[in-house]
Amino acid sequence: MMEKKKTEVVIVGAGLAGLATAACLTMHAIPHVILEREDCIASLWHKKSYDRLHLHLAKQFCQLPHLPHPSSCPTFMSKNHFITYINDYVACFNLCPRLRCEVESAFFDDEDGKWQVVVRNLETGEVEEYVARFVVVATGENDKAVVPEFPGIESFPGEVIHSMDYRNGSKYKGKDVLVVGCGNSGMEIALDLSNFGAKATIVVRNELHVVPRELLFWIMLLRKFLPIYLLDALLLFLCYFKYGDTAKYGIQRPKQGPLHLKETTPIYPVIDVGTFQKIKSGHIQVLPSVKSIKGNNVRFKNEISHQFDAIILATGYKSSAKEWLKGDDYLIGEDGISKQKFPNHWKGRHGLYCAGLVRKGIYGLANDAEKIANDINTLLKDDDAKKMN
Ligand SMILES: Cc1cc2nc3c(=O)[nH]c(=O)nc-3n(C[C@H](O)[C@H](O)[C@H](O)COP(=O)(O)OP(=O)(O)OC[C@H]3O[C@@H](n4cnc5c(N)ncnc54)[C@H](O)[C@@H]3O)c2cc1C
Ligand SMILES: *[C@@H]1O[C@H](CO)[C@@H](O)[C@H](O)[C@H]1NC(C)=O
Repeated sequence: MMEKKKTEVVIVGAGLAGLATAACLTMHAIPHVILEREDCIASLWHKKSYDRLHLHLAKQFCQLPHLPHPSSCPTFMSKNHFITYINDYVACFNLCPRLRCEVESAFFDDEDGKWQVVVRNLETGEVEEYVARFVVVATGENDKAVVPEFPGIESFPGEVIHSMDYRNGSKYKGKDVLVVGCGNSGMEIALDLSNFGAKATIVVRNELHVVPRELLFWIMLLRKFLPIYLLDALLLFLCYFKYGDTAKYGIQRPKQGPLHLKETTPIYPVIDVGTFQKIKSGHIQVLPSVKSIKGNNVRFKNEISHQFDAIILATGYKSSAKEWLKGDDYLIGEDGISKQKFPNHWKGRHGLYCAGLVRKGIYGLANDAEKIANDINTLLKDDDAKKMN
């Protein structure tokens, strides 16, 4: 076994949360190491998202600590534009993640009061070990695909992919494509398919709020001045004005308002960038849940059957933190997400932290990163003071 490497903080994951935490630690001159499984930083943005993706929220809600977007930057940034920003961020703080290093396990050693982090170097296949006082879990809420099982799916002869492997609709031109799941990804992929000349159908299983992106942006600017119930009423009124009754097109709205749900539950409204217009005009078909599949034939809950050439599963993601984080039953729940309630979700015991694991997007992970770095800084300063005495 190789000699163990020592550092103050091990950050697992070089996505936005890991990079933001590293930048904040750098500001305090605290030694740290970032370990990343993939061969690039921000792998979700580089490798697991579709071409036409734009940030769903306005730029001021999508920036990392200590580097605001310039005023020349558009309100809703494209994926490539955002990747350029992340690269600039890494250069600006001189961050050097160790790529192709997968954390296989991390556990707290009671005896010496430190974390032992076991890492597989995917380049050489060798195992390395780090010893650190602090560990930051920054492996994201979207590491693995959620793939539901449908009766008969194995008989489907066409392509079945998860939304993380979808890039654009060019190869689906003229094809019948079923998109399962109507979160932001599913809705936008259906639009993309339709724009590329495919015949898209989207499965809508639950009640949901669809809201136009720009409208949500303006309403959120009023958040400081008006109570949620008024904003919800205003938003729903304007949505009705733009869309009419969405239930007529197969999309039932929940009883509670979109902003109320957003603030009190993990349920976000679906941000519409043009899909609903295509649903209204009949270019995109909406159907209820899938009941069964036989060959190319898919049967839906309302007993309608339809033939498809391909299926895209926009059925969401899950965290993989529990696969490697051993013996912490305080901070991270079985689902790999923080089980402590916001705003106390980021700090565990024995120097364990998590950033970006409370379903609050880029805005949330940027806040987590600052709090974590400040907390570690305070603890280290206290230690120094004790040593002096
Ligand atoms: C398609 C899509 C669009 C989104 N758009 C927005 C938006 O517009 N606005 C917004 O606020 N939020 C958005 N989000 C939500 C969220 O803010 C982003 O997913 C954001 O990238 C999360 O960053 P993260 O660092 O927490 O996780 P990730 O970006 O997923 O980074 C985690 C990193 O950890 C690495 N990793 C995982 N396991 C290990 C391991 N064992 N060892 C080493 N490395 C590991 C992964 O390879 C990955 O690079 C979007 C999410 C998706 C999926
Ligand atoms: C669509 O994606 C493929 C595969 O990534 C790529 O080669 C092609 O250039 C893309 N087409 C368009 C029109 O963007």
